[in-house]
Amino acid sequence: MALDPVPEHPSLEPVPASQSRATLARVMGVIDANNYGNVHGGVILRAVDEAGAVSAVKHSHGPAVTALIDQMAFREPVKLGDLLTTRAQVNWTGNTSMEVGVRITVERSGVEGEIHVGTAYLVYVAIDADGEPRKVPPVRAEDDEDRRRFAEAEIRRASRLGRRQAIEELRRHGAE
Ligand SMILES: CC(C)(COP(=O)(O)OP(=O)(O)OC[C@H]1O[C@@H](n2cnc3c(N)ncnc32)[C@H](O)[C@@H]1OP(=O)(O)O)[C@@H](O)C(=O)NCCC(=O)NCCS
Repeated sequence: MALDPVPEHPSLEPVPASQSRATLARVMGVIDANNYGNVHGGVILRAVDEAGAVSAVKHSHGPAVTALIDQMAFREPVKLGDLLTTRAQVNWTGNTSMEVGVRITVERSGVEGEIHVGTAYLVYVAIDADGEPRKVPPVRAEDDEDRRRFAEAEIRRASRLGRRQAIEELRRHGAE
């Protein structure tokens, strides 16, 4: 996303959650395979990060970098030939950071409908021309689903902060 222009005065008006939605899709080929003949997890992670970044850029009206992958759950293998789709949306906003949720699905020949193969949550930080964090507009929930996503993102954030504090405490005092 380095080529995104950095806006001089990006709007800080609340942005509806739906405005940050991004969908990317690609057919999985042999270059995407792991040693077991399925799709390599790293290929899926890349697709997740690409969709997440597009969503963060749309929300923040400018460049944003991946700060953290909070969770990447693979529910079942993705197979060669599958159409992999990643759908991303900003769930939560802080001061300069945003949590993006990504739903990963595939469409598979011979199988009706979409298969939900994974879910990921990532934190992006909007940056200015110097690479320093810049303020992001708040996300505006539009329905109960958006409110649920916001509330769940707050739980993940509190859990991350709690875990970090606990580890710092342990390092200060040592494991007994
Ligand atoms: C992300 C980055 C811009 C943060 O810069 P920083 O100076 O550490 O930022 P700050 O400590 O001022 O924190 C800024 C925000 O980022 C959040 N943040 C920083 N590191 C974070 C992390 N590891 N996890 C979650 N949030 C994080 C802070 O909570 C803060 O959020 P808020 O403003 O909404 O409260 C910087 O660490 C960076 O450039 N990292 C490399 C990013 C990158 O290259 N990604 C691609 C991976 S190859």
